[in-house]
Amino acid sequence: MSKSLQAIRGMNDILPEQTPLWRYFEGTVARLLDNYGYKQIRMPIVEFTELFKRSIGEVTDIVEKEMYTFEDRNGDSLTLRPEGTAACVRAVLEHGITGGGQVQKLWYIGPMFRHERPQKGRYRQFHQIGLEVFNLDGPDIDAELIIMTWRLWGELGIRDAVKLELNSLGTSESRGRYREALVEYLLAHHDKLDEDSQRRLKTNPLRVLDTKNADTQAVLVDAPKMADYLDDESRAHFEGLKARLDAVGIPYVLNPKLVRGLDYYSKTVFEWVTDKLGAQGTVCAGGRYDGLVEQMGGKPTPGVGFAMGIERLVLMLETLEQIPQEISRQVDVYLCAFGEEAELAGLALAERVRNELPNLRLQVNAGAGSFKSQFKKADKSGALYALILGDDEMAQQVVGFKPLRGQGEQQSIAWDALAAHLATCVVQG
Ligand code: HAM
Repeated sequence: MSKSLQAIRGMNDILPEQTPLWRYFEGTVARLLDNYGYKQIRMPIVEFTELFKRSIGEVTDIVEKEMYTFEDRNGDSLTLRPEGTAACVRAVLEHGITGGGQVQKLWYIGPMFRHERPQKGRYRQFHQIGLEVFNLDGPDIDAELIIMTWRLWGELGIRDAVKLELNSLGTSESRGRYREALVEYLLAHHDKLDEDSQRRLKTNPLRVLDTKNADTQAVLVDAPKMADYLDDESRAHFEGLKARLDAVGIPYVLNPKLVRGLDYYSKTVFEWVTDKLGAQGTVCAGGRYDGLVEQMGGKPTPGVGFAMGIERLVLMLETLEQIPQEISRQVDVYLCAFGEEAELAGLALAERVRNELPNLRLQVNAGAGSFKSQFKKADKSGALYALILGDDEMAQQVVGFKPLRGQGEQQSIAWDALAAHLATCVVQG
């Protein structure tokens, strides 16, 4: 027997019973971003491999071991995007829309691909909503990004379950000085470091700060602190950000070990974390990348952004039971028609009602069926009301209007009055 076809491990179908919650989440974020004046951009999901190597960094986990890279028929090396920032920078440069200091406030949504070990909250195809701002270098915009996400958590009802961690990596010069001091210190304690950290010490020493190994963590207690190496400009920027968060009343925790897994960051980095999802607790993360555009061949252009993981946030809504009731109902009204004549009249009537109430979720029974079977389908659809068209109703040019969720008796409504009647009983989304 042939092996049954299956989706690739770590790549999930999002089934019809899950999509209402996804759409609610995506719609809530999209509305918020619109309201703050951000514009959507859409990039391809495949790019030249070189793009990610140059932006994310050759010695990051993503580039070293997690990319889906393949040769296309022309022999070009292509990669399924592991994140959105690189492609967004490529796009704004290619189209010249950040030239001459033009401010761009952009957002995107879509699938990203990383060959990680799948587990709850960590997948190989996952979805992000991300945002990038170009040509604003002050802490006010860093603050706006965080304020916006704080509002989002409030709207979603998950604010109490997330915590903001904040750090500043400084400019590349100050980070360079810090790196030297850190390497010198760690080399002096080389034998006490775990194997992975010994390797990182050579390739990407700041990532040693991220270690989960207890012995290495113990060594790090007395290691030089990044904050002591910050240049004046980065320090002022960071103070400016904290003052704004304080002014709005957003709590944060300073985490000097927060370095992020992508190489392009400078100055501000932040993560929103939760303890409600087990090991994969970062739901939204980002920071400033003032050197990236130049590194990719553009003029010096400050940039700052973040991305949130949709799977993780949907899981949080489920875990915290913050699922608005109205999203579970997909149908307002279900029309049952008995006999061919009634079916034709029902179709025309449904279209007339839809003309007048474009937001009404009206489902017309398909596939005919007995009174009992159509009623069963009406009930299962979750509709609040059934409309009934049988011989009697046809003769009188009325429709039976039957509440399905125990709100009163069946009544007869004239065809002409139906839309007006429905408008009074159904709150339309
Ligand atoms: P990142 O931290 O790699 O940053 O990913 C951002 C978010 O995507 C994570 O916090 C997490 O919620 C989600 N995520 C990442 N990997 C997975 C996975 N394997 N499964 C499920 N969810 C995942 C970036 O991607 C940067 N481009 C963010 C950014 C934008 N920085 C500046 N601008």
